[in-house]
Amino acid sequence: MDKITITRPDDWHLHLRDGDALKAVLPDTARRFARAIVMPNLRPPVTTTALAAEYRQRILDALQKPTVRPERVEGQHISTARQMQGERFSFEPLMTVYLTDNTTVAEIEKASTSGFVRAVKYYPAGATTNSDSGVTDLNKCNQVFEAMQALGMPLLMHGEVTDGDVDMFDRECVFIDRHLKPLLEKYPALKVVFEHITTKDAAEFVASAPSNVAATITPHHLLMNRNAMFSGGIRPHHYCLPILKREEHRIALVKAATSGSPKFFLGTDSAPHAKSAKEASCGCAGMYSSHAGIELYAEVFEAANGLDKLEAFASFYGADFYGLPRNKDQISLVKEAWTVPESIIFAGDVLVPLRAGQTVAWKMV
Ligand code: NCD
Ligand code: ZN
Repeated sequence: MDKITITRPDDWHLHLRDGDALKAVLPDTARRFARAIVMPNLRPPVTTTALAAEYRQRILDALQKPTVRPERVEGQHISTARQMQGERFSFEPLMTVYLTDNTTVAEIEKASTSGFVRAVKYYPAGATTNSDSGVTDLNKCNQVFEAMQALGMPLLMHGEVTDGDVDMFDRECVFIDRHLKPLLEKYPALKVVFEHITTKDAAEFVASAPSNVAATITPHHLLMNRNAMFSGGIRPHHYCLPILKREEHRIALVKAATSGSPKFFLGTDSAPHAKSAKEASCGCAGMYSSHAGIELYAEVFEAANGLDKLEAFASFYGADFYGLPRNKDQISLVKEAWTVPESIIFAGDVLVPLRAGQTVAWKMV
């Protein structure tokens, strides 16, 4: 097969940032995806429906005025992105509210009736980029979880413990036993998305959980194992959280994604950071993949002989889980290799996209 046409996909986990950074990255997503669940880890975080409404408006405004990427920029910074002027996108940002120790039931009720806040995001305090306001103890949120369960509001979990004595590579597994299982015992009907799962353990847990528990899987965790962080030297652009794991875990994730199970769906976790913030003595976590946000998944599904399963993973199961209509229009991909730019203009700096300077096998037409 060298051409596939699928229902337009959605991205169920995306970092769009704000301001000029937002304008720089948004067209990559809007060109491919009809909707995206937008992460609230701005600085300061999007902790209320009112803040989410303002952020949503800034995204909609940025859709009208995206950054025009030059065809050619001095030095190495060559962008192959076409001129954006005149392009019109029909993209819908699905907003999230950032859970803190102090989130109130009234705030959850407001979010639920807003019509545009679609989920609440849980970060363990200190787990990742801009998570200092995250939850310090899940028990502080019991009333909120009660309300979310009753309202059918999904809880999106960054599923890692933050304890310094837990090995970096075990943080997701420990989270399942220490936090996720007890939470679901207490609130068995709470809708939970175990975000960006990275281990066999998480895939198995989700597969055997009831239908109110699902997971998103990123393209990078499907494509790479932890060796990618150390090939020939330290590779900061392959550092993200949760961190890449062993090959056996990658294989389990591919199996889950291509299994046809409605519990697993697409969430890129595309997380842009300026090159200078990644290539630093203490580099930020996050990979940028929106420039090839569906194409990279096509590679994975093809390699696993599962291209026929791509559409449901990318375009059906997420919408079904969130109780939203499936998209009506379609996109097409052709099997035609193209070279990813070395860098992309990004808010007064550049960012280095996933596969920079290398090829991606599928191309959107
Ligand atoms: C994300 C970011 O940069 O906002 N980074 C990442 O490595 N995925 C935060 C997150 O989702 O953990
Ligand atoms: Zn994320």
